[in-house]
Amino acid sequence: MNLFATLNQTLDLIPEGTRAAGLSVLMKGAGKVTRFLPIPQPTLLVGPGASRRLGQALTGFGHEKLLIVTDAVIVELGLLQGLTQALEAGGTAWALFDEITPDAPIPLIERGLARFQEEGCDALVAVGGGSAMDAAKAIAIASANPAKDLRSLAGYFKGLSHPPPVYAVPTTAGTGSEVTVAAVIADPQRRSKLVIVDTRLVPKMAALDPELMTGLPPAITAATGMDALTHAVEAFLGHWATPATDGLALAAVGLIFENLPRAYREGRDLEVRERMALASTYAGMAFTRANVGYVHAIAHQFGGRYHTPHGLANAIVLPQVLRFLAPEVTDRLARLALRARLGSVDEDEQTLADRFLAAVEALARDLGIPTQLAALREQDIPALAEAALHEAHTGYPVPRYMSRAECEALLRRLLPSAPPSAAKAAEAPPEAPAAPAAKPKAARAPRKARVRKTPPADRDDRTDGPQEASA
Ligand SMILES: NC(=O)c1ccc[n+]([C@@H]2O[C@H](COP(=O)([O-])OP(=O)(O)OC[C@H]3O[C@@H](n4cnc5c(N)ncnc54)[C@H](O)[C@@H]3O)[C@@H](O)[C@H]2O)c1
Ligand SMILES: [Fe+2]
Repeated sequence: MNLFATLNQTLDLIPEGTRAAGLSVLMKGAGKVTRFLPIPQPTLLVGPGASRRLGQALTGFGHEKLLIVTDAVIVELGLLQGLTQALEAGGTAWALFDEITPDAPIPLIERGLARFQEEGCDALVAVGGGSAMDAAKAIAIASANPAKDLRSLAGYFKGLSHPPPVYAVPTTAGTGSEVTVAAVIADPQRRSKLVIVDTRLVPKMAALDPELMTGLPPAITAATGMDALTHAVEAFLGHWATPATDGLALAAVGLIFENLPRAYREGRDLEVRERMALASTYAGMAFTRANVGYVHAIAHQFGGRYHTPHGLANAIVLPQVLRFLAPEVTDRLARLALRARLGSVDEDEQTLADRFLAAVEALARDLGIPTQLAALREQDIPALAEAALHEAHTGYPVPRYMSRAECEALLRRLLPSAPPSAAKAAEAPPEAPAAPAAKPKAARAPRKARVRKTPPADRDDRTDGPQEASA
């Protein structure tokens, strides 16, 4: 159990309003510590052919044998070719584990682990979306800690021994797992997701190769792109944001608003795909230090219970959570609006913030993302809310405290039977007393947007990388 979980359980005994204030202080305090946690960053190879260049580099690292962790679609599309040809040309042995399915469940990870051991491998190369990258990370930490099962490795730094190196080739532009400390896997027995967090799980090297992404279907492009947007936005709005994570998150938001609609419609455009790959990586670097928030806490419950694809779940939840948070983070939303080129610094913060919320909804609509979750059932809502709030309040530095009643009301607006217009009215429900941290700011006099200079997207001073995270 981590420090936050222990302290939050203590806070559970305290009335909700007081707990809200306590949690806020606790999380802000934790952020003062976590910002100094050293987190490694992978060497990045970027551009067409990057996966081949990764293969060439790997031949010089002296590994006995590599396990390539991927799925059957990736193999069928021929996306391994550049990598494997380079490995063979350099005389590096490799074995294949191509059974990955979305949200890799525990039994699958165990099969991958068995293959890793049988083949005598000493490093892993993940080629695929977040599911393949996270499975490779989970196999790595499990192989180094045979006395622990996967469930007991979930949480913060639970593996005693150092995992073998993982290298990553993302084929979706969404999770950012190629730069993060997290591995998210599924526990089918408990119908939940497990998050393993360890700085030693950050891949050593990653290839962002847009050539591998041009065949990504529009619906997956949309959902994974919205996952990246959610990482950037949650990292930017949470209490653990730092100047460095702000720069990365803003860069990602700018790139996503500019490129995601085109990636969705003109998927074969290599430049657009490369910019989305970079956006996803920047967002990953931002949230692995600054962490995520209520959107991910809720989306993980949808993934665990209904198998909703992670990006889609985030995309459905994001507008609702943003409307809930808005009174507390108007100034931050205004900055996001400016970076998304939705207005100018002469406009007041409230106008800009409102425009950002509307733009997120419009983007989701444009990408064919529904406003409600077809699988959601009324009778599941209390348990979903409880699990989501437990996840959020034991790990995420959320900028405004959400009560149980508020979370349930938010979930009800996502019911397939809810009127679509309800998606717009996501204010706190009248029956839910506002927590102290939730004092609305809307009544104050309009303020001009405050603009801080942010680093350009391709800056090279990204020393403030991954850290605590989930997603
Ligand atoms: N570790 C982290 O930091 C982190 C962050 C966010 C999400 N996640 C986890 O990652 C998982 C989701 O990953 P994802 O959204 O990338 O999806 P995914 O890896 O589950 O892949 C989704 C589908 O896309 C297909 N696909 C992938 N690349 C393709 C390509 N180039 N062309 C055609 N098809 C392709 C796959 O075969 C699969 O069917 C979830 O389990 C989520 O919880 C992890
Ligand atoms: Fe995510």
